[in-house]
Amino acid sequence: MLGVDQKEGKMRITLKTIFGLEEVLAAELKELGFDHVELLNRAVRIEGTWKDVYYLNLHVRCAISVLVEIKKFRIKSEEDLYQRCMKINWTDYFALDKTFAVKGAVFSEIFSHSQYPFLVVKDAIADTFRKKYDERPNVNIKSPQVMFDVYIRNQDVTISLNTSGLPLFQRGYRESVGIAPLNEVVAAGLIRMSGWDKKSTFVDPFCGSGTLLIEAALMAAGLPPQIERTHFAFKNFANFQPEIWEEILSEVPKRITELPCKIIGSDISAEMVTKTRRNLRALPIGRFIETSVNAFQELSQVEGPGVMISNPPYGERMGEEIEEMYQELGDWMKGSMKGFECWVLSSNKEAFKSVGLRPERKIKVFNGDLECSFRKYSIYEGSKKAKYQNQDENDEPKEEFQGKAHEKEEWVKTVINKKREEKQSFENKRSFDRKNEEARQGSSKPRGGKKYGDRRDRGSDSEYAPKKEYSPRKDKRDFSDKKEFSPEKKSFDRKPDDAYKPKRSSSKYEKRDRVEEGSKETTERPKTTPDVEKKSSEKSSKPISSYKNRSAKDKYGRKD
Ligand SMILES: C[S@@+](CC[C@H](N)C(=O)[O-])C[C@H]1O[C@@H](n2cnc3c(N)ncnc32)[C@H](O)[C@@H]1O
Repeated sequence: MLGVDQKEGKMRITLKTIFGLEEVLAAELKELGFDHVELLNRAVRIEGTWKDVYYLNLHVRCAISVLVEIKKFRIKSEEDLYQRCMKINWTDYFALDKTFAVKGAVFSEIFSHSQYPFLVVKDAIADTFRKKYDERPNVNIKSPQVMFDVYIRNQDVTISLNTSGLPLFQRGYRESVGIAPLNEVVAAGLIRMSGWDKKSTFVDPFCGSGTLLIEAALMAAGLPPQIERTHFAFKNFANFQPEIWEEILSEVPKRITELPCKIIGSDISAEMVTKTRRNLRALPIGRFIETSVNAFQELSQVEGPGVMISNPPYGERMGEEIEEMYQELGDWMKGSMKGFECWVLSSNKEAFKSVGLRPERKIKVFNGDLECSFRKYSIYEGSKKAKYQNQDENDEPKEEFQGKAHEKEEWVKTVINKKREEKQSFENKRSFDRKNEEARQGSSKPRGGKKYGDRRDRGSDSEYAPKKEYSPRKDKRDFSDKKEFSPEKKSFDRKPDDAYKPKRSSSKYEKRDRVEEGSKETTERPKTTPDVEKKSSEKSSKPISSYKNRSAKDKYGRKD
């Protein structure tokens, strides 16, 4: 049996998540049958078996990774970390031919450089292999086959196996992403926070590349979020039990014949809607989602009851125009979304004021580094109408924050600052490694008991010059070698962009198929013949059944 810390046959499993989604994840785990869930900072902890680990990797929607604890200890110095790590039988966990990486989080005065402890652990792993086989496995930072997680708080160190590997928001269903796609884990978290019942209509009139629509459809169909993903690091650990994994996979529904609800999306940009449609094609629920190219201002009443969740452009630099758009959004929700609970995610607090409706709830949510507010507007018909549709700022509800582990505001600042510091550290580390590489030229000795910190002892350990590169299988469903999913290309830290501002030209809300020329696309477009491309954008400009186009002239007194 693999050496992991266990209590009565159960391992300590930590699920990492996004700051502020801890409670949402805890609730999800309880629904999945895990009764004892401990809330941590940006994580929750449960106890379970390897079968649970496989199951969670496939099914959990609001976690970024699933870690299994292997060792916990205390240290007083950097050297202590190396010595303690040399006592771990790393060769039991994975084979020499697998690539590996060490990542994690450090909140400790012991280390002046926040990335340094990962290098220490990586050295210990390499040296353990060298001692046993006279050879060491390669490091691959971008798409390692095996990943270890190091968490250091003050003097306490926890070493875990990262059984997911690449973050779980890399679902594998995205062929195309827009400029500011919502992180899939955030999208799933927002849907859970909204309390959507998975039966009433779900609408996103700013659908972009379709993240919210897809996450909602997967939930409604009871399909796991990772249905298209083949990369899981647990498959590369020495104790992988394929028969248990196959059993878990066999329980996933093979065919979906219908959805219990309507899922409708639209966007002003034809290019975005084409991306959504491409993404939908890969999924068994794709054909049930209705999409169209429309400005929200042009859509008439959607049949309720239902839930709308959107992240419109935040447009921090759009000035008055963005306020105008939020004002129109408020008017439109009031006029066309009766019977709906409308949720809007934005970092632009000023623009929110222009919505002109009283939010029933406000929840603080982090979208990458951006602090956002997720606001609920219930659009009632009849008598309740007045209650929530008169704006009085003083009467607004207090902003909730669902990460109860961080009740103190100070936590927010600390973590954000730490993140910035870590980014800076990473840059420093790169230049540090470059210098180190120059200094060590030719030396490839193992550490041999020398004091840690003598960087010349690091041998041929630079992650940036591995002996041989891992080339993943050319498996259609293994996306780890696709550009779209490389951590650099699809970082969840990417900020929503102002590039979404609708271009004002002859028509105020001119369709984006005329606007998108020269837009900064972040991914390579899959090869599509011009004919197919043309066909799909022609098709996309037709109104869909549930959203009836109304004349912009009638409603807004403007010419189309
Ligand atoms: C922040 S992005 C949404 C990203 C999306 N949630 C995703 O995951 O890809 C905002 C979207 O609003 C769209 N948009 C901008 N103005 C619009 C309008 N007036 N009506 C409808 N969509 C609009 C943009 O084209 C863009 O795709």
